[in-house]
Amino acid sequence: MCGIIGYTGQRRAIPLLLQALKRLEYRGYDSAGIAIVEKGTLQVFRKKGKIKELEQELEGKEWVTSFGIGHTRWATHGIPSDHNAHPHCDCQKTIALVHNGIIENYKSLKEMLLREGHVFSSDTDTEVIAHLLEGEGSPKERLLRTVSLLEGSFALCILFTEEEGVLYGVRKSSPLILGVGEGEYFLSSDIPAFLEYTRSAVLLDDGEVVRVDRSGFTVFDFQGQAKDKKPITIPWDPVSAEKGGFKHFMLKEIHEEPRVFEDTLAGRIDFHKQTVALEELENLPFSSVRRVTIVACGTACHAGMLGKIYLETLARLPVAVEYASEFRYQEPLLQDTLVIAISQSGETADTLRAVELAREQGARILSVCNVLGSSLTRISDWVLYTRAGLEISVASTKAFLGQVTVLLLLSLFLGEKRGVLAPERQESLLRELLSLPRKMNQILKEEQSIHEIARQYYRHQNFFYLGRGLLYPLALEGALKLKEISYAYAEGLSAGEMKHGPIALVGPDLVSIVLVGEGERRIKMLGNIEEIRARQGKIIAVASENDTEVKEKVDFFIPIPPTSEFLSPLLAIIPLQLFAYYMALERGCDIDQPRNLAKSVTVE
Ligand code: M6R
Repeated sequence: MCGIIGYTGQRRAIPLLLQALKRLEYRGYDSAGIAIVEKGTLQVFRKKGKIKELEQELEGKEWVTSFGIGHTRWATHGIPSDHNAHPHCDCQKTIALVHNGIIENYKSLKEMLLREGHVFSSDTDTEVIAHLLEGEGSPKERLLRTVSLLEGSFALCILFTEEEGVLYGVRKSSPLILGVGEGEYFLSSDIPAFLEYTRSAVLLDDGEVVRVDRSGFTVFDFQGQAKDKKPITIPWDPVSAEKGGFKHFMLKEIHEEPRVFEDTLAGRIDFHKQTVALEELENLPFSSVRRVTIVACGTACHAGMLGKIYLETLARLPVAVEYASEFRYQEPLLQDTLVIAISQSGETADTLRAVELAREQGARILSVCNVLGSSLTRISDWVLYTRAGLEISVASTKAFLGQVTVLLLLSLFLGEKRGVLAPERQESLLRELLSLPRKMNQILKEEQSIHEIARQYYRHQNFFYLGRGLLYPLALEGALKLKEISYAYAEGLSAGEMKHGPIALVGPDLVSIVLVGEGERRIKMLGNIEEIRARQGKIIAVASENDTEVKEKVDFFIPIPPTSEFLSPLLAIIPLQLFAYYMALERGCDIDQPRNLAKSVTVE
């Protein structure tokens, strides 16, 4: 989705803005632009395509200003083009602004402005804001007047040539953060844009405006009333925004999974008492929770599906899992229900709307989130952070692992609090948890054999991912990973459903990735393998390293160190992510920024 950066300070603005826009590339975009004020004159540059096109446009320009704004656009209103790219300006070219979100009433506003004689130069909803900002009064007065007319979601960063060095930021239902440096300030939709300069930040809330110059900042509400806001320290290390020797962020992030797992557990297990200790949930009314509804999108929803099995088995709570984009239009019955919202970014529009609906219905909200201070965490009653660190690749990998880990901990915690979890089961799972980082590393060491399998199959276009029980959500997740970054068609299936229709597609051209667990479901999976073999389908199996029977029946075998069935998804996910990665690599895809996708989906 779109990304915003604004800067006022002492550094040269153009290289800084370009660098910040590159840091925002991972969000997904189709055009980019910057605006600066040089010797009192507004200069605007906008280009369709990648930031390097914009860089070429700016080559040889010697401007020294230390004040400007920039944007990466992901088209909603108007095709990707130079003229639709942000920043947008007023008629006199004295105001420039960038916008994330959607102005829902832009049509009626545009009609009004056209009647007044304004001339538009783009097809965007955003441009109306620049024209509304024209007129009488100080920039602040005009801004407050304009904001009162806007409906929809908007994070804005605005500069006026009459106030050089001053930036205005506005936040409503779309994130905006103020980075606070020494005599310099950054306004951005995303922390990575300024992380290399400062880790001190003010998280703006909905309905807030910030005015910032080189000497300080003031925050006020949409009525102009001052608000007291203090900076917080961002826990992320600037190095996490670098690839660290890996070819892609995705590969780096997969390799970080053992560490993410350990960090997510840290301080949450009392090894002396052999229990899970979640301080964050101290005042959660355990006894009044009768049901759980999980809402999430994409990968986070697959983590939620695993969470359902954990919560039902370990905490004996009935759980429904809903795509947030469906749930938000339903009329849910949420009496005595704890709603768990899962989101890496904490900014996914559908998940936020689902939570708002749940709140209106009186539900209490527990969020599982990766981004400190994100919108989701601020509308939740309780937050369990996943501690995956900054995830840059659009394809979510380590955050998924963090989400599943948190949901497992939560299930153990609630199981014990509700008195339904046998202490021996809890102890054995906790003991086994400790061995997982070593086993994850063991899988990562075998990545070249997964690369080899990808080399064999990268020309194939159709893939099934088959799993049962806990490995069914994993099949969905494996398929999602493959399709989003390699553009191969992949379908995740509950293996038992195969014979009810999908088996019609099985033949020599179809590759099936079969996830084989233990126990009674294993026998059924062997049956699936035979059914595929009988139709000459290709098979890659992911199974326990001891499962020689499976190994003999399939084309390729990816061994997983033995572990409890409950914990197996935390290991089996790694080869699925690696396979998707190497498939995309062999197919020459843009792995960290797949086409049409965005890191956080802030439109509904
Ligand atoms: O930030 P969120 O976890 O709320 O994002 C939800 C989905 O948009 C996200 O998981 C998406 O499916 C990823 N591209 C998956 O890799």
